[in-house]
Amino acid sequence: MKGFMRIDNVPVIAIDGPSASGKGTVAQRVAEKLGFHYLDSGALYRLVALAAMRSGVDLSNENTLSDVAAQLDVVFEGADIRFQSENVTSAIRTEACSNAASRIAAYPKVRTALLARQREFRQIPGLVADGRDMGSVVFPDAVLKIFLTASAETRAQRRLKQLMEKGIDANIATLLQDIRDRDARDSNRTVAPLQQGTDTNLLDTTSLNIAEAVDSVLKQYAGVCAKKHL
Ligand code: DC
Repeated sequence: MKGFMRIDNVPVIAIDGPSASGKGTVAQRVAEKLGFHYLDSGALYRLVALAAMRSGVDLSNENTLSDVAAQLDVVFEGADIRFQSENVTSAIRTEACSNAASRIAAYPKVRTALLARQREFRQIPGLVADGRDMGSVVFPDAVLKIFLTASAETRAQRRLKQLMEKGIDANIATLLQDIRDRDARDSNRTVAPLQQGTDTNLLDTTSLNIAEAVDSVLKQYAGVCAKKHL
């Protein structure tokens, strides 16, 4: 049938990497350029954290947290994220939410509860998915897997700039420490740790701007398409 494509043939570009590496912005722009869907998987972990904190759930109670994850009432509308009809796009970006998300993301049951929801984003004509385990767990058959990173100092500087632009006061030393703590938690957990897989291409953006990083991903994808005749 013309126009029919099996879901597992829908191309996925997996972009994994540490916090504040810029992978969200890069992934979003790549998706826009290709006309693909976009999955911000970190937003799902942040939403579980927000929902749990708001309803007073103990952040060490894995079973209750996985119920929260399974029942998450969320709608992605372009760049906006609605939780129970409320726009929480900014609320999930606070440092408190970032830290709580990193803690709860270590629970296997929470991760399992979010799996199907993430895979639903794989729709024609394609998907760009950003997170920590997109290439290793959620979309192991992704046609292109990228590990996008930058030095911790560069990431702390970028985060500082972002916060200052929003008029939020921040301290570089605290931001750097937070980034290092989160990296350690995300990389050392036993389930789906943040690490570069052997089938994954490293993209170090320490000395690249966003446009250059986007360009690199697009070129790599064009190379994959030429090879696979996509
Ligand atoms: O990408 P982010 O900073 O918005 O992610 C928030 C937290 O969620 C981060 O500390 C790690 C976790 N996370 C994860 O464990 N797996 C993913 N696929 C995405 C995010």
